[in-house]
Amino acid sequence: MKKQTRTAINKLLATDRALDDVCVKGWVRSTRRGKGVAFITLNDGSCFASLQLVLSPETTDFETVSRVGTGACLTARGALVASPAAGQSWELHAHEVEVIGVADDSYPLQKKRHTFEYLRSIAHLRPRSNTFGAVFRVRSRLAFAVHQFFQQRGFIYVQTPIITANDCEGAGEMFRVTTLDPQNPPQTAGKVDWNKDFFGERTGLTVSGQLQGELFATAFSDIYTFGPTFRAENSNTSRHAAEFWMIEPEIAFADLEDNCRLGEDFLRYLVTFALENCAEDLDFFDQRVEKGLLDKLESLAKAEFKTLPYTEAVELLLKSGQDFEFPVAWGNDLQSEHERFLTEKIFSGPVFVTDYPKQIKAFYMRLNDDDRTVAAMDLLVPRVGEIIGGSQREERYEVLERRMIESGIDPRDLDWYLDIRRWGTCPHAGFGLGFERLLMYLTGMENIRDVIPFPRTPGHARF
Ligand code: 4AD
Ligand code: MG
Repeated sequence: MKKQTRTAINKLLATDRALDDVCVKGWVRSTRRGKGVAFITLNDGSCFASLQLVLSPETTDFETVSRVGTGACLTARGALVASPAAGQSWELHAHEVEVIGVADDSYPLQKKRHTFEYLRSIAHLRPRSNTFGAVFRVRSRLAFAVHQFFQQRGFIYVQTPIITANDCEGAGEMFRVTTLDPQNPPQTAGKVDWNKDFFGERTGLTVSGQLQGELFATAFSDIYTFGPTFRAENSNTSRHAAEFWMIEPEIAFADLEDNCRLGEDFLRYLVTFALENCAEDLDFFDQRVEKGLLDKLESLAKAEFKTLPYTEAVELLLKSGQDFEFPVAWGNDLQSEHERFLTEKIFSGPVFVTDYPKQIKAFYMRLNDDDRTVAAMDLLVPRVGEIIGGSQREERYEVLERRMIESGIDPRDLDWYLDIRRWGTCPHAGFGLGFERLLMYLTGMENIRDVIPFPRTPGHARF
């Protein structure tokens, strides 16, 4: 077959007229043979729908190519014509089909439906399934939407480091980064001598880009980060991954209220963007994954986001009479069962919980005048629970230094972080949105492992 530029299937399916000579390439989803005719559905990932190829004895090598296996990769050339079949407007009458890569019966993605658990065990092939095709197209579009939101508002995109010497907030255990020989590390007085390690001190993978983000916010006013984040916490839940992506805006001259408004605008923008730009994939999720998803997203795009101080949240939970596994008491952190009760049962919608007790939040959150709570905010949404966590930052040098010491952090280790409070300090605030939690919310997928291409969780890093 002569070399010809391929046209993506989404472009062909969107055409408004028949085309007599087109070339498509993709992977076979299914085949069906009749007398003197064969049908092949071909998918190239450009959209949810597959293109139906119609083969006849006039098709070159009809006898061989019509027996191609599911999963095979092929090129087809022919005419795009209006389809008489229901559910598709166009089909390709193939003059020529060339098999690029064969697939035999052992190809795991044959016609039957597979469970998400099984598909996870073949993470190298699952992008070729309907569900994961849709998930990863939405993921890609939404990554673009994140940048578009901030770039339109003049935020500076900053790439914070992946290897770091500081454990930002004790948010979780850090993965260690070292080039020392684990069998035989250099030692001084019986202890590992980290000064001899690659960076001359103990380093790990970042748990958050926030602290470095703050440095840039006090130079560029409005910044955001968007990158991978690593937490070695051994919590095997459906919402935690050891490697996940986080978006962290940081805004100068802003308080907690401004921070909540930014979080609200951001989430609303992303949901609206998905509804407008990922309609075909969201339709599939609405029908097959979470019934009512589209209604939920449409109502979130219009919803009023409630704000509720932690103290009142605790009162509401106590008054509810609900039997919780973890006790509710002022000073205890909210568990996901409490968060979901608030957003699903009490408010039936998004709610910001603010002003948490200082002992359960990070040292950098701004101390409130009551001396017991800090200017923190978590945004809770139905089904997912916490989707955003953030705060106004402590901009007062002495207060911050005291909070570090109270939290067991040596201020000398974070002298660079304290320095921005020493010269030209200003009120500022920010938050982190977990990108996978966002995708769970948008697609209805219930396990974080199913919205990240290659999930890393305790015991799993194979693909
Ligand atoms: O609440 P977190 O730990 O906040 C921070 O890291 C702050 N430094 C953010 C900031 O103020 N700039 O994490 C923020 C969000 C959570 O709300 C959640 O959506 C997500 O990150 N997240 C996780 N997502 C997947 N797997 C995990 N293990 C996650 N831990 C947090
Ligand atoms: Mg949090």
